[in-house]
Amino acid sequence: MFSEKHLAKGKALVERELERILSRGNNRLYEAMRHAVLGEGKRFRPLLVLSAAEALGAEAALALPFACGVEFIHTYSLVHDDLPCMDDDDMRRGKPSCHKAFGEDIALLAGDALLTLAFEVMAGAEIPRRLSGAKNRILLEAARFSGVDGMIGGQLLDITFSASRPGAIEELMRKKTGALILLAVRAGALIAGAKKAALEALTLYGEKIGTAFQIRDDILDAAETSKKPGVNKPNFAALAGLERAEKNLNEWVGAARTALEKGKIASPV
Ligand code: IPE
Ligand code: IPE
Ligand code: MG
Ligand code: MG
Repeated sequence: MFSEKHLAKGKALVERELERILSRGNNRLYEAMRHAVLGEGKRFRPLLVLSAAEALGAEAALALPFACGVEFIHTYSLVHDDLPCMDDDDMRRGKPSCHKAFGEDIALLAGDALLTLAFEVMAGAEIPRRLSGAKNRILLEAARFSGVDGMIGGQLLDITFSASRPGAIEELMRKKTGALILLAVRAGALIAGAKKAALEALTLYGEKIGTAFQIRDDILDAAETSKKPGVNKPNFAALAGLERAEKNLNEWVGAARTALEKGKIASPV
C-alpha cells in the first residue's frame, strides 16, 4: 500500500499535467474542458494508473500520459452523463455541470473533445521502443473498455435497466464503472512491462475494485437525501438493501486484496 503522502504526490503530478495539457488553447471549448476536468475530481483512475505502474517498479512519469488519458475519458463520460437527455444533473464536482455553465452544445463538444484528446495524449506518449507493443495494447483497450462493450454499453444498460433480468445490476456496474477502472489498472501494468502473472493478478484486482467502487458510490448516493425526486436510477444499494450492499462491498474489496496478495503485488490504493 502506498502512503497517503505518496498518493498526494501522485495526485499533484496528475493535476499539473492535466492543467498543462489543457492550457494549450483558449477558446470557449477549452474553457469548458478545463471547467469539467480541473478542480474537485478524486483522480482515482489516474492514481490507479500511476500506482499500478509503480507497484511493478516503473517510474510514475512513464505512466503519466496514460493516467491523464484515462481521466479525460472519465471526465468526458461525466459531462455527457450529466446532460439533460441523460441524468440531467445540475452539479458536478462541486460546481455547475458543464452544460449548466456553458450550454448543452458546448458541453456535448467538450465531451467529444476530451475523448479524442485522451487518445491524442496516449498515442503521443514518448516511451522506450521496447514498450511500443504495450502502448498499442493500451490504446486498443482504451477504445474497447470505453466503448460499446464497455463504459458506453454500461450507460446503455443504465438507461434501459430492467431489474427483473438476473445479474443485470452486476453487469451494469462492471461495464459502466468497472471497465474504466480496469483500463486504469491494466494501462499502468502494461506500461510497466508487466509479465503475464502480474498482469493477471492486477486484472483480477481491477475487476474487483471497479465493482466495489460502484457499490460504494451507490451506497453514498442512496443515503443522500438531496437527490431529485422522481429520478429513479438503478442503484445497487436500493435494489439489494443497504445491509447486503455493505456486505457485498466488503467481499469485493476482500477479493481485490486477495488477488494482489496472491500475485505478491503492493496494493495500488
Ligand atoms: C463518478 O466517479 C462516477 C462513477 C462512475 C461512480 P468518481 O466518483 O470517480 O468521480 P470524480 O472523478 O471524483 O469526480
Ligand atoms: C456515471 O454513473 C458513470 C459514467 C458516467 C460512466 P452515475 O450516473 O451513476 O454517476 P453520478 O451519480 O452521475 O456520478
Ligand atoms: Mg448516469
Ligand atoms: Mg449521473
